[in-house]
Amino acid sequence: MALLFKSEIDRADLWAEALGGCAPDLEVRIWPEAGELSEIEYALVWKPPQGLLKSYPNLKLIFSLGAGVDHLTSDSELPEGVPVLRMVEPGLTAGMTEYVVMSVLMHHRRMVDYAGMQRDRVWEVLPTPLAADRKVGVMGLGVLGADAAAALAGLGFDVAGWSRSPKSVPGVAAFHGADQLEPFLARSEILVCLLPLTAETGGILNARTLALLPRGAALINVGRGELLVEEDLLPALDAGQVTAATLDVFASEPPAPEHPFWTHPRVVLTPHCASITVPDSGARAVVENIRRFEAGEALLHVADLGRGY
Ligand code: NAP
Ligand code: GLV
Repeated sequence: MALLFKSEIDRADLWAEALGGCAPDLEVRIWPEAGELSEIEYALVWKPPQGLLKSYPNLKLIFSLGAGVDHLTSDSELPEGVPVLRMVEPGLTAGMTEYVVMSVLMHHRRMVDYAGMQRDRVWEVLPTPLAADRKVGVMGLGVLGADAAAALAGLGFDVAGWSRSPKSVPGVAAFHGADQLEPFLARSEILVCLLPLTAETGGILNARTLALLPRGAALINVGRGELLVEEDLLPALDAGQVTAATLDVFASEPPAPEHPFWTHPRVVLTPHCASITVPDSGARAVVENIRRFEAGEALLHVADLGRGY
């Protein structure tokens, strides 16, 4: 039983150790040292090269190292009929909630304004509402969005969420579907985007939708870079329609050195680090699905490739 591991960012040694700790019989092979190709039954990957996965004739399951599967659905040669499993593990969820809470609080308490005032040696107190009077919108009420929304509601924010199908998260006002996007955006003073990148969601943050936000809203994009039409954000920032943005993901990563986001005074930029799968808990999630597969039980967190997430 062999598993192929392929990633440029996740540490192969830590993953091999974690997988070995919960499945001693699982032989972990680190790409490109795959050995005999026919022996690879499982693949745990992040951004595999186009066509790589079809070269394993006995592949049974494809595990994404991350929550998103757009790095797999973009492979036009993805082997047909092999289930693709999203990464759902408590470390990834907790890390994202930390990042979202940090970012929402930062915009809520006007830290981008205060950073500029510090640079200019301006000593002035800016008005700030209480969390209960601040409307936060979370686009995507899935595993990550629902946890972040619940944590924000727990801090007292007035939180709403938007999803494809109706969802219920305690303390969170629920909007869903294309028809309810407009009223959802119209109330989102701080907008968090935690959507997956699919054929339907690409470019969803654009000049039209940013204009639907209350004037002076803040944007936090932690989903995928291509959800945002980057060239539409700059005029919205310059006009004050969007007061500030925290961006963790970009259409091209890293953004080119001359990209205006690097130096924009109202953009907080981080290197796609909002949350990263934790090897120990991630390995347990992978091994549980292998166990289920071999026992003929239902798999957990199977991506719907038709929907794209
Ligand atoms: P998930 O559980 O699959 O949830 C996706 C959510 O988006 C669901 O609520 C879904 O609606 C909603 N959605 C999908 N298409 C939609 C549409 N057309 N209209 C409205 N809502 C739509 O995914 P997750 O585990 O929460 O992860 C979300 C994304 O976060 C990942 O795909 C990835 O891109 C990103 N991510 C980023 C980082 C980072 O470090 N920046 C880390 C991890 C993940 P339904 O509930 O109705 O299905
Ligand atoms: C990271 O971007 C993920 O999809 O987990």
